[in-house]
Amino acid sequence: MCGIVGYIGYRDAYPIIVKGLQRLEYRGYDSAGIALYDGTDINLSKTKGKVEDLRNKSKSTISLEGNLGIGHTRWATHGVPNDVNSHPHYSNSGDLVIIHNGIIENYESIKKALTERGYTFTSDTDTEVLVNLIEEVQKTEDVMLGQAVQIALNQVVGAYAIAVFDIKKPDEIVVAKLGSPLAIGIGENEFFIASDASPFIEFTNNAVYLKDEEMAIIRLGKEIKLRKIQNDAVAYPNILELQMNLEEIEKGGYDHFMLKEIYEQPRAILDTYRGRLLADQGLIKMAGVDQNLEKFLNANRIIIVACGTSWHAGLVAEYIFEDLARIPVEVEYASEFRYRNPVITDKDVIIAISQSGETADTLAAIKLAKEKGAFVFGVCNVVGSSIARETDAGAYTHAGPEIGVASTKAFTTQITVLTLLALKLAKEKGEFSESQFHEVLTELETIPSKVKKALESNALIEIIADVYKDSPNCLYLGRGYNFPVALEGALKLKEISYIHAEGYPAAEMKHGPIALIDEQMPVVVIATKKGHYEKIVSNIQEIKSRKGKIIAIVTEGDEQVTQLADHVVEIPETSESLSPLVTTIPLQLLSYHIAVMRNCNVDQPRNLAKSVTVE
Ligand code: M6R
Repeated sequence: MCGIVGYIGYRDAYPIIVKGLQRLEYRGYDSAGIALYDGTDINLSKTKGKVEDLRNKSKSTISLEGNLGIGHTRWATHGVPNDVNSHPHYSNSGDLVIIHNGIIENYESIKKALTERGYTFTSDTDTEVLVNLIEEVQKTEDVMLGQAVQIALNQVVGAYAIAVFDIKKPDEIVVAKLGSPLAIGIGENEFFIASDASPFIEFTNNAVYLKDEEMAIIRLGKEIKLRKIQNDAVAYPNILELQMNLEEIEKGGYDHFMLKEIYEQPRAILDTYRGRLLADQGLIKMAGVDQNLEKFLNANRIIIVACGTSWHAGLVAEYIFEDLARIPVEVEYASEFRYRNPVITDKDVIIAISQSGETADTLAAIKLAKEKGAFVFGVCNVVGSSIARETDAGAYTHAGPEIGVASTKAFTTQITVLTLLALKLAKEKGEFSESQFHEVLTELETIPSKVKKALESNALIEIIADVYKDSPNCLYLGRGYNFPVALEGALKLKEISYIHAEGYPAAEMKHGPIALIDEQMPVVVIATKKGHYEKIVSNIQEIKSRKGKIIAIVTEGDEQVTQLADHVVEIPETSESLSPLVTTIPLQLLSYHIAVMRNCNVDQPRNLAKSVTVE
């Protein structure tokens, strides 16, 4: 989704903004632009394409001077990706310039009214309508920019994070947020604006995350004050000290963020359970759960809402909660849940899973569940994100920043948090004896080293990738706990290599997908020893007799599947309930290598955004 960067202070704004936009590239975009105030004029450059294209274009077309500027990466919603539709957008007078992430739903009626008043529009965007609405308010109400923004925003329906400045008042930038993220970095006599903290983390660790319906007038030499958009209530900003560091958001010697993040998983999983899992004391400590234990224990059922990879983590959790804690679970796509008038009561516990904590559909599902009186628990990675704030309680995954659009460490750390939660509830409900509990906790502690071992198959997986890199289709099969892993493996392949891939429960194959199998079809089968092994062996036989090519993920020392499959990747033995944390690793590596071999943009796949902040 769109990325926003802004700067006001004493440094050159241009390099900060361009570098910041590059840090936000992971969000997904199709065009980029920048507007700088050089002390006299606003210099604006924008282009379809990458930030690098913007850099090349701006160098030869505009002055790069100035200590005030705003920049944007656009992910098209209204209007095709082209130079004109890219942000920033001027108002008709040329005095105001704006960047916007989100959608103004009623822009057509506003555009019509403004057109009747003589306004003209060069782009097809809703954003150009908004900046002209602000200008119209400024004129008709004779108010300063901050007030004009506030009045205008009260007339729009939709979602936004905006930054706007006025050439007549070049010591301030006005920002506002509803539904899309916006952070303000606070330095010494300088301010930074961005969709997340990565563009400014090398300059300051102090940041304010705007809440929904908040705006701020960021003025040089003044303290930040937040204001409600609907009324004039003033809020004092909660200045957070960020823990993120520069190293975490750079590639650290890896060719791609995705590969770096795959390799970070042993550490990320450990960080997720560190301080929570106390195997020697037979304890799991999770503050957000401990404080709300009765809600969980008295729940009629747990409903998990999420999208994409996070939904797959929710499916794994369904197996864990039902199998180990004996709590009924439903797993819902947030986008469906929010619109289908679900039956929810105050005896339901909702778990919302989201890496970014900003996914619009998941946020809407949370709001709906809260309105119906349910207790909502969040599992997020990004600290201070909208979902983390909207939920009644929660647990962070502590994966560290995930920059690659394809989620990897987010998935395994989400499963880790959900496993801890399920085990804790199982223990509280008396589903485990002390010794069983101790055994499973001890096994969880071995997972980082097992993931490390699984990563050692990288070279072998690269060879397998080379064999199948040109296949047009691929099937992924798994059973039980590993059915969601098959779904996730297929999602990883299709999103970064653009190969059509499907995940299925292995036993469902004979109800349809088996018709697809011939000598051209690679089938990735998760066939580990624990969990329906003999059944999976039969499924593999069925594929083999139709000449499908079998890539099997097996337990170390496996003989039976090894004899049948065309390729095997061995992973260390684990209990069935913890196996998704390990079986997913070879699938991530396979999709990574295939995408690299197909010259695909691994970290920024076409059409995709890291956090989907529009519905
Ligand atoms: O930030 P979220 O976890 O809420 O994002 C949900 C999906 O957009 C996300 O999991 C997406 O499917 C993955 N990036 C795909 O790898």
